[in-house]
Amino acid sequence: AAKPDPMITELQDWNRFLGDGVDKKPYGVPSKFEKDVIRRDVSWLTASPESSVNFTPLHALDGIITPSGLCFERHHGGVAEIDPAQHRLMINGLVDTPMVFTMDDIRRMPRVNKVYFLECAANSGMEWRGAQLNGCQFTHGMIHNVMYTGVTLKTLLDQAGLKPNAKWLMLEGADSAGMNRSLPVSKALDDVLIAFAMNGEALRPENGYPLRAVIPGWQGNLWVKWLRRIEAGDMPWQAREETSKYTDLMPDGRARKYTFVMDAKSVITNPSPQAPLKFKGRNVLSGVAWSGRGTVKRVDVTMDGGRNWREARIDGPVLDKSMVRFYVDFDWNGEELMLQSRAIDETGYVQPSKAELRKVRGVNSIYHNNGIQTWLVHPDGVTENVEIA
Ligand code: MTE
Repeated sequence: AAKPDPMITELQDWNRFLGDGVDKKPYGVPSKFEKDVIRRDVSWLTASPESSVNFTPLHALDGIITPSGLCFERHHGGVAEIDPAQHRLMINGLVDTPMVFTMDDIRRMPRVNKVYFLECAANSGMEWRGAQLNGCQFTHGMIHNVMYTGVTLKTLLDQAGLKPNAKWLMLEGADSAGMNRSLPVSKALDDVLIAFAMNGEALRPENGYPLRAVIPGWQGNLWVKWLRRIEAGDMPWQAREETSKYTDLMPDGRARKYTFVMDAKSVITNPSPQAPLKFKGRNVLSGVAWSGRGTVKRVDVTMDGGRNWREARIDGPVLDKSMVRFYVDFDWNGEELMLQSRAIDETGYVQPSKAELRKVRGVNSIYHNNGIQTWLVHPDGVTENVEIA
């Protein structure tokens, strides 16, 4: 090089002076240079921060695990601050023996570790009528992917003994919203967990400390946080969250109810509006894909708005009902790009285009929008949320 790079030739402060000692940060925090990597909300979306949502900064993450402190939050009555010593989980209703468990009781049962995505049914809900929010954090950030530690719900139900006519469970939170949802017993006995840890540490208060339900592949609303009670019954409860909310209004005015499963979906996180392309030549396109019906089998990417597709390279663990990470290593000469990704899951289901989805579902719903996202990359690298007519 003609001009020496001072970052190489001159000694920097961090190379000259002692750094902080080990007693400075007993619980680590990210580098100060990462201060923009935070959950963000959309101020006009909700009337109050207690019944609201913020979004995972997907554009700033890699791999498949969402760091606990960056997992999006959605609550209806603010964050409950619960002393675990005083927390109880009750099981009642159509059971042989109603039970009350302490946290210590639950910690003495056989544990399991599982990685699952949690996606709010309203993720991408603002995009039904057209491209709206500029950033994958806002269009797709109501999702996180976490390793949970807990016990299977079956372990708890076996102790209480479900009566033969118990077909549904009602899960209830200890927050001020007392949020509750009905869950079919078949799912409860299949793969539902009652978790007390995420990513190796205790659940964060925002995500349900000390105890939450983990309902793999199903809409986030069912994953009751601050879980305090499970009642067994013979029919669904018709709770607010499954009648007035979390139903999908169809074009003919009728509404779909109990649409639990989150269908296959994907999004390119880089480049995206918050992470524009900076360099010509070699670049890494990256994104995430997931399916509530099992594993993601393949992710295809197009750079010209769907004329040509190529298979992306999935790297890292491919797990049941978990996010996968995909990449396309490519050369960019400054031409305009129309980027899209589509996920294909193990059932053969292919993520639909927004047009295909609207043909069947109309645009009245907020929920379950898993249509293909388009990013337009301009010659200067600036990237926008658009739709292809
Ligand atoms: N559980 C309780 N008790 N109260 C709530 O408000 N919100 C639900 C669900 N569980 C909620 C709750 C909704 S709508 C979603 S999408 C997920 O929690 C969000 O989980 P998270 O905050 O860990 O991302």
